[in-house]
Amino acid sequence: MRQGQGKGSAKPHRAAAPSEMQSHTSAEPASALRAAIAPFIAMEVLSQAGAIEAKGGKVVHMELGEPGAPAPRAAREAAKRAIEEGRIAYTPALGIPSLRKRIARHYRDFYGLTVDPEHVAVTTGSSAGFILAFLACFDVGDRVAISSPGYPAYRNILEALGIEPVVIETGPADRWTITPEALSAAHRDKKLKGVLVMSPANPTGVMMSAEAIGALAGICDRLGIWFISDEIYHGLTYEAPASSALAASSDAIIVNSFSKYFCMTGWRIGWLVLPPRLLRSVERLAQNLFISPPYVSQIAAQAAFEAKHELQAVRDVYAQSRALLLEALPRLGFCDLAPVDGAFYVYGDVTRLTNDSLEFCRRALAEAGVALTPGVDFDRTRGARHVRLSFAGAPENVRQGVQRLASWLAREP
Ligand SMILES: Cc1ncc(COP(=O)(O)O)c(C=O)c1O
Repeated sequence: MRQGQGKGSAKPHRAAAPSEMQSHTSAEPASALRAAIAPFIAMEVLSQAGAIEAKGGKVVHMELGEPGAPAPRAAREAAKRAIEEGRIAYTPALGIPSLRKRIARHYRDFYGLTVDPEHVAVTTGSSAGFILAFLACFDVGDRVAISSPGYPAYRNILEALGIEPVVIETGPADRWTITPEALSAAHRDKKLKGVLVMSPANPTGVMMSAEAIGALAGICDRLGIWFISDEIYHGLTYEAPASSALAASSDAIIVNSFSKYFCMTGWRIGWLVLPPRLLRSVERLAQNLFISPPYVSQIAAQAAFEAKHELQAVRDVYAQSRALLLEALPRLGFCDLAPVDGAFYVYGDVTRLTNDSLEFCRRALAEAGVALTPGVDFDRTRGARHVRLSFAGAPENVRQGVQRLASWLAREP
């Protein structure tokens, strides 16, 4: 089956052009230009799936990076106790000291690294962590390198803050990661102020080796630019454990979260590890933008560190779903799957099935009842060739998704 032929391939997603923003009447003020960012398509697919479900339809969700497992039992128990105690109050802007201390200990236990609890800032999910880090490091007009394909919110948050995302295209030849050469070339072109990498990555699942991270951190030190490392998928690896950029550079900014490994998406809790020179600015920004991270979630997050066995069991289930998809997808026509070293996504080339992944995903949802994310969410220029499938849900869900896709594709001419 090929879709979208003759109608042209999917247009890359883009923020609304300034002229579109001016078309409102004076009675209805246009939103600010900085608000004209692209939508997060995975979230839009989620709401389209919700509309089908509201009418009684059944959807297999493979669009979101949302663990199917609940928060660890210890976290839920701790939250219950905190709620029963009654007073849910503001906390210090950088988080409750015991949680900052526990996060610092995690670096010793997990990576053998020493982290001063004072360098840890607890945030409202890693999403708030990005806003704090970007505002602390960059001014309007600064240029920050990010990879494509990549997590769409990086680009969209940077654009909303008036910071210029400099998109570096990656692919199989560079193992889907920004190389020191590509970073230096982008800097030579016009000075960068920072680079943001993730490992394991979304949407590819690709992990950078300790050497690759070290090489990139070394270039950043030499060029005098910020190195921001999104480590949200640490703990969810299938071949080897992930290395933290902190091992390579004490000046790196680490972004992490309780959303993925700890299965706590809706609790909106994450953290930053910061170099000392950024601490006061991040604290001032956090005081003003968020006052404090949510109290109950902080209590729960601290307890989640004690749920190692439960969380390991969740990871082992992802490993089974990963194996199932890696075996089934090539048979369905998904090619050149990026190596899924970690996270819970498979990013595949669908050009044997379509030349328009947005339309392909629309039809997969409407006709097969499987919610997938089109590559244009992650790569505005080449994403029409790719689709991302998430295997974060229950394994039964993943099995059902594959079955539905197989019968749908078999029905198509
Ligand atoms: C790479 C990456 N970073 C950050 C986030 C945001 O996570 P949260 O704000 O829930 O911590 C996500 C969510 O999918 C992600 O994939």
